[in-house]
Amino acid sequence: MSAPGAFYITTPIYYVNDSPHIGHAYTTLACDAVARFMRLDGQRVHFLTGTDEHGQKVDKAAEARGMDPQSFTDEVSQRFRDLVAAMGFSNDDFIRTTEERHKRSVQELWRRLVDAGEIYLGSYAGWYAVRDEAFYAESEIRDGKAPSGAPVEWVEEPSYFFRLSAWQDRLLDWYDANPDCILPESRRNEVISFVRGGLQDLSVSRTTFKWGVPVPGDDDHVMYVWLDALTNYMSAVGFPDEQSELFRTFWPADVHVVGKDILRFHAVYWPAFLMAAGIEPPRRIHAHGWWTNEGQKISKSLGNVIDPYELIDRYGLDQMRYFLLREVPFGNDGDFSHAAMVRRMNSDLANDYGNLCQRVLSMIGKNCGGAVPQPGELTADDRELLGTAENLIDTVRAQMERQASHQALESIWRVIADANRYVDSMAPWALRKTDPERMATVLYALAETIRHLAILTQPFMPGSSEKILDLLNVERRDFTALGESGRLAPGTTLPKPAGVFPRYVEPEAGA
Ligand code: MSP
Repeated sequence: MSAPGAFYITTPIYYVNDSPHIGHAYTTLACDAVARFMRLDGQRVHFLTGTDEHGQKVDKAAEARGMDPQSFTDEVSQRFRDLVAAMGFSNDDFIRTTEERHKRSVQELWRRLVDAGEIYLGSYAGWYAVRDEAFYAESEIRDGKAPSGAPVEWVEEPSYFFRLSAWQDRLLDWYDANPDCILPESRRNEVISFVRGGLQDLSVSRTTFKWGVPVPGDDDHVMYVWLDALTNYMSAVGFPDEQSELFRTFWPADVHVVGKDILRFHAVYWPAFLMAAGIEPPRRIHAHGWWTNEGQKISKSLGNVIDPYELIDRYGLDQMRYFLLREVPFGNDGDFSHAAMVRRMNSDLANDYGNLCQRVLSMIGKNCGGAVPQPGELTADDRELLGTAENLIDTVRAQMERQASHQALESIWRVIADANRYVDSMAPWALRKTDPERMATVLYALAETIRHLAILTQPFMPGSSEKILDLLNVERRDFTALGESGRLAPGTTLPKPAGVFPRYVEPEAGA
């Protein structure tokens, strides 16, 4: 993996043939939560996203718009950068495959593959799906379509080939030696059985169009867009300068997060290219599922593409982030529906988390002079609640090491439920008259619990967590502040309480 204490996570780079939609936002969000978590946990993180700008698909999209491909990609790539800003993503770099640093890197990888005898010149005759930018064997074609449903066309042209067929056993050994290198397990099994079924040499150059990185020494060919695109993960950390601080710190990548549709490229071709060039393959490729919209496959032709900006406007950024990360176990397919979104927003956020914060902070505001109360001696119940909150990091850390944000949120919500039960059973409002000292202790235990919760929800809902931590006047917010070392100091003045998670109310008809 990256050097100790370092963590490198990547999103796929997005095709610039189209505007960003929910699928793109989701993949990057999944990485963003992990990247933020690792930073708060003291790791030096490199989080990369970017755009995939070469190939026939982008070339055709530019042509359809009557633009030259470079101006077209400049325009569309910017829309992906705008999404990064709108979603508050914390990526450390944004790579475009049309940048010089990338062309230099992919040409060097090519040369190394040639030097290693892994590339030879031949000619390709077979099926190609521009939509997938993928070659398909005759046996895979059903009703004139690729297995993905993409239309295919017959291609015959001179082509360089990569000796993929020679890598079958070494790939199988690699999967075997690294049980977690492909997640989830079900997808790993699919990849292994695909590789066991035998591999064909892979066409890695095209001659019928020009929009790509030229093959070194043979300008008639441009490189196959997937060889070009996959290499972005190394270009961004300085390859071919392997002695650079960036490369030594971050390569091999800890995890490439990808959608299930592009797992084969990442889990078969990419490690084979790298091993063939004598470079260490990534530590993990984690494939997530696909979102549907109200039960329907998302497609432009159905007109049901979900625009991330609309979700932000309608529900709020953190609400949307929470929903996408919590609703579906990472790796599974999931359905976006308005009803499910509103349920999560009103029940998990407004009722469970929001209400906990609101009740406790307003009781402190009213009954403790607007300052952190001075606790008396802790009872077993108080210690149990605090202990649960303090130990939560261990559970969540183990879950986030497997990119399981949904599990991490479930664990955090279990503690929110514990804290709400504790409020109900301690009834601090009743203690106000009968035993104010005990009330102060209860409210202190609760404020401390909320401090832990808000520190831990930062990776998932950065803005709202920040507001809660502001309301508690908390300065240190990284994970070293969890437990005793960051305890709230009694007597600290707190700002006036304010609600953090509004309920969703359907707009009036016609409004
Ligand atoms: N350019 C390639 C990736 C190259 S990586 C070296 C590509 N781009 S893409 O823009 O078509 O897709 C990018 C990601 O978006 C993929 O991981 C894909 O799974 C994801 N999604 C596209 N639609 C999606 C949904 N409806 N739901 C979830 N994610 C989906 O492939």
